Amino acid sequence: MLRSPFCEIIVELKRFAESATTFSSLQKFAVDVIAQRLPYYDWVGFYMLDADDSSVLALGAYHGVPTDHVRIPVTEGICGAAVATGETVIIDDVTSDPRYLACSLETRSEIVVPIRVGQEIAGEIDIDSHTLDAFGPNDRHFLEECATLFGEFIQETRQKPSP
Ligand code: SME
Repeated sequence: MLRSPFCEIIVELKRFAESATTFSSLQKFAVDVIAQRLPYYDWVGFYMLDADDSSVLALGAYHGVPTDHVRIPVTEGICGAAVATGETVIIDDVTSDPRYLACSLETRSEIVVPIRVGQEIAGEIDIDSHTLDAFGPNDRHFLEECATLFGEFIQETRQKPSP
């Protein structure tokens, strides 16, 4: 049976998560495997709510060009909108959305998916593409499944007693 890259990535993430001990190691693995397998995912990164100031998203692991937006108030950007609404946000053409904060001039479309730990939003995964209208229902479904896996990983690692 042929497997889609989405399914293969989910399998790899689950396998890695079984033995990973920190969320930062899972973040690094995830951004690399996702960006390498999906060529139209030109920038892949995590933004997590700052533990000391939950009004700000702090950049975590990423794959792609460096961004100036290392800390984003939850009231700003597409990233802030995903936290504020608690929903996946897809922007087909970033030039048409005044909320958009530019990372690269080449970016044309973006998807941001919240990561929940229980009911609480802990952060998000953010993808930029150089292609207009790059993200459809399959991308949304795939990234929401990734976000569930990340949320469960965070919850399980919090519950584990320290070694
Ligand atoms: N475009 C995002 C900012 C993050 S960069 O794309 C990496 C936004 O509008 O919130």
